[in-house]
Amino acid sequence: MADKGKILLSVTGFDPGIWKDALEKAAPDRTVVLEPAEASDPEIDYAVVWKQPPGVLDGLPNLKAIFSIGAGVDHLFAAGNDLPDVPIVRVVAEDLTDRMSEYSVWQVLDHLRKGPLYRDQQARRVWHEDLMQPAASEVTIGILGYGNLGRDAAKKLIMLGFKVIGWSRTEKQDEAVETFAGEDGLAGFLAQSDIVVCLLPLTPATRGILSASFFAKMKPRGPLGAPILINAGRGGLQVEADILAALEEKRLGAVSLDVFQTEPLPPESPLWTHPRVTITPHAAATSMPHALVPPMVDQMDAHDRGEKLKNLVDREAGY
Ligand code: NAP
Ligand code: GLV
Repeated sequence: MADKGKILLSVTGFDPGIWKDALEKAAPDRTVVLEPAEASDPEIDYAVVWKQPPGVLDGLPNLKAIFSIGAGVDHLFAAGNDLPDVPIVRVVAEDLTDRMSEYSVWQVLDHLRKGPLYRDQQARRVWHEDLMQPAASEVTIGILGYGNLGRDAAKKLIMLGFKVIGWSRTEKQDEAVETFAGEDGLAGFLAQSDIVVCLLPLTPATRGILSASFFAKMKPRGPLGAPILINAGRGGLQVEADILAALEEKRLGAVSLDVFQTEPLPPESPLWTHPRVTITPHAAATSMPHALVPPMVDQMDAHDRGEKLKNLVDREAGY
């Protein structure tokens, strides 16, 4: 029986039907309504959103919390509206974390083991072993954004033998990983990193960080030749023209990009055909409703019992 209140579901870019089914299964005692039809309904007490249209959360007098269906929340702030003053919960979940670490490990290994070179050789039927094959232990991976996803990727990369270092906004103490923090720590972090894996959130402070001045600080040479960039954070972190220029100048040896300034990546983008660019369509860590909805509903129930919400967004920091 649906008597615990209503959940507003507003997801753009995902199939709302699948999320609605998962919410109804996990919360049979709540009613799920799709925006915008009932967006001013006073019975709506929770909202589950991804890239909600502007204003859709404005007219809800009894909203208690907003749940993002992803780890990133820039999509919430980007809608151009003042969000209601209620807690915002983001995804921190093993399923999503594992997926992101799979992506990070996959791309790191692809660059270590010369995937782009051997794919090109295969296309040309060339049989040639590149004997300049460094061991994982000779390569330092710099995790840019040493948060929930960054720490898990680090753990798995260390298991493969890589040296890993991390960069975050606030200082960290970590036994296994040398850490750097803030703008003052960035140059020291980049000076050591052979491969940078970017898992930063997009905020006013991080927008456009992957730009010419960043590439100029990267370690110029190393066991892989030039440094490599892997970005699965957000497209707004990168300046694509600067990436292309850095590839031409050999400041960057190669890049793997999962996220783009404009998504889908426009067909005319030169990134598509660049031989040293690997592209995936924002697929590093997909949000799976069967894994993410039950903990969301558990949090709603706990909050209704007076317990504190977990995985809250710091609005001031923007993530
Ligand atoms: P998180 O736990 O909040 O970690 C974010 C990390 O970035 C933290 O270490 C944080 O520092 C650091 N950071 C934030 N602003 C910074 C700044 N100005 N300077 C230096 N470091 C800064 O977030 P998460 O769960 O790991 O997720 C990270 C991001 O991954 C999401 O925001 C999203 O954009 C992206 N993502 C992408 C996909 C995909 O499919 N491509 C999937 C999921 C997530 P502190 O530790 O000091 O707070
Ligand atoms: C996906 O991009 C996420 O933020 O979870």
